[in-house]
Amino acid sequence: MSGDRFTPAPEDRFSFGIWTVGWQGADVFGPGTRPPMAADRAVRELARIGAYGVNFHDNDVFDFDATAAERDERLAAFRKALDETGLVVTTATTNLFSHPIFKDGAFTANDRDVRRFALRKVMDNLDRAAELGARTYVCWGGREGAESGAAKDVRAALDRYKEAFDVLGAYVADQGYDIRFAIEPKPNEPRGDILLPTVGHALAFIGELERPETVGLNPEVGHEEMAGLNYAHGLAQALWHGKLFHIDLNGQNGPRYDQDLRFGAGNARGAFWVVDLIENSDYDGPIHFDFKPPRTEDDAGVWESARGCMRNWLILREKVRAFRADPEVQEALRDARVDELAAPTLAEGEDWRAVRDFTPDIAGLAARGSAFERLDQLALEHLYGTR
Ligand code: GCO
Ligand code: MN
Ligand code: MN
Repeated sequence: MSGDRFTPAPEDRFSFGIWTVGWQGADVFGPGTRPPMAADRAVRELARIGAYGVNFHDNDVFDFDATAAERDERLAAFRKALDETGLVVTTATTNLFSHPIFKDGAFTANDRDVRRFALRKVMDNLDRAAELGARTYVCWGGREGAESGAAKDVRAALDRYKEAFDVLGAYVADQGYDIRFAIEPKPNEPRGDILLPTVGHALAFIGELERPETVGLNPEVGHEEMAGLNYAHGLAQALWHGKLFHIDLNGQNGPRYDQDLRFGAGNARGAFWVVDLIENSDYDGPIHFDFKPPRTEDDAGVWESARGCMRNWLILREKVRAFRADPEVQEALRDARVDELAAPTLAEGEDWRAVRDFTPDIAGLAARGSAFERLDQLALEHLYGTR
């Protein structure tokens, strides 16, 4: 497996959440199948398999009810592993969903004390994030949501959600931290419905904040596909708005529970277009994986699946490069008039008058095929490995 051209290297900028490889496999039907993994071990093993960076929740490193001494000891071991391996903390985030206090959410909990404590917990971890050099702070909604209609006043919840980002934005500015927030949309799970369920909802929300320039998105493959949406299209729109601050890559098979398969498993065709888009964009964040090694796997299987995420990116990268370089593809792109879309509909100096009476060859245009099928077949043949 190792030593071939799909072997990851730090320059590929692959990163993982500490909680991904550290997942013990507990689900709603049964307890974990693997022993706990300390954050420092996750760092060392990820470095060994060729990763470049990590993202961490505060409680990936130390328990929610750790004493100050335990917390400092776990943080010191985490730092030591980072120093010794050279792994970068690209991103940090807060666990605002595991402890029972967050059963009704954090920033949007009905209980005001819970909301105030959630802000404090984020500020605590922003301090650690800044110290460890993270530039992006992910905010996944977790339990911000509801199962029933009357229990949550959604408009008031959005007021409180905005308030939270405004308060935290002020904290980051006042501390002089070089950190931007990345909202991670998700439609449901663990709540019946989660607030800011898709990329589009989150983009609209960001426009209402006091510091919209400091808040962007962290879209996740599985979350958009759970909503039946096209992840690559969501990424493209986030890029168009200048809001693609981070990506959470994994695999999903359509609208069902959050599968968190390794990247490239699940919707492989969707993954091809994700790699094509990111490789041909100005996205400069980490190539980050947020997956869960299935609970069928032992420790060896955990690292196999983490390696698989990176290998699948590199395999698809080779395929999308070959696709773009293929002369037949270039011809098919021209036949499909893909480049023509870049031309503004009105020419320089024109206004609506130029098209007010425009009448093209209607019968000719209606009869002309778009030639998209040949182009897509070429893409599939590259993906299937026959070209
Ligand atoms: C999920 C989410 C989380 C977040 C993580 C970082 O569905 O559980 O994807 O894994 O990404 O909490 O904020
Ligand atoms: Mn997820
Ligand atoms: Mn995620």
